[in-house]
Amino acid sequence: MTQVTEIAPDVYRISTYVSEINFQHNQFLIRDDEPLLFHTGLKRLFPVVRDAVATLIEPSKLRWIGFSHLEADECGALSEWQALAPDATAVCSMVGKLVSIDDFVAARPARGMADGEILTTGKGRFRFLQTPHVPHCWEAGLLFEETNGTLLCSDLFHQNGDVEPQTTSDVVGRFRQMLLENQQGPLANYLPYTNNTEAILQRLAALKPKTIATMHGSTFSGDGEQAIKDLSIVMKEVLVGP
Ligand SMILES: [Fe+2]
Ligand SMILES: [Fe+2]
Repeated sequence: MTQVTEIAPDVYRISTYVSEINFQHNQFLIRDDEPLLFHTGLKRLFPVVRDAVATLIEPSKLRWIGFSHLEADECGALSEWQALAPDATAVCSMVGKLVSIDDFVAARPARGMADGEILTTGKGRFRFLQTPHVPHCWEAGLLFEETNGTLLCSDLFHQNGDVEPQTTSDVVGRFRQMLLENQQGPLANYLPYTNNTEAILQRLAALKPKTIATMHGSTFSGDGEQAIKDLSIVMKEVLVGP
């Protein structure tokens, strides 16, 4: 069953639990003059995501389709969305656009974002952050909505299980648990830890987000700066070791 929850003003979390892999797939719809969907979700989830979006906006009016990196849960249904919404344009890093998206993923040229560039959707102001290999993949990037302090953080803060839509309690412990669980199965070595990881995470923490909207698991509301600093410690501890 797909659940829709408003996690910040006009930011809606559309969540479907996928039992085979024991985690939720979340997309975020920003209802604004130029509506933005962050993550399309898997191609096979397109019908349920579309129906959920239809409870919030007219789906054919979707203007922007953002995502962090090239992966099915990030942009697998891009062609379905672009067939349905004639003005829908992909928004991703310049690396993503140049290396993959414009060649075999998008129906129309993507908007390739430079680090720090702003995407305006009406009331919303989304700053693009180039975050190579965070959470993973060369082309990775994130969006931070500056008016309400919402960080669309892709796989960072991933939590396994069919968890509550939103929480103010600890999600870093759950993230740590996920890393340990995944390491025991076919999803091992999910996230890398590179020479740039620490600096990228500290930069995200300095944004002081109030809402951290993760693709898998509960949205966290609270002290986002501290949460990201804690996440950084856990990533180093689990991925690098003592
Ligand atoms: Fe991913
Ligand atoms: Fe993901």
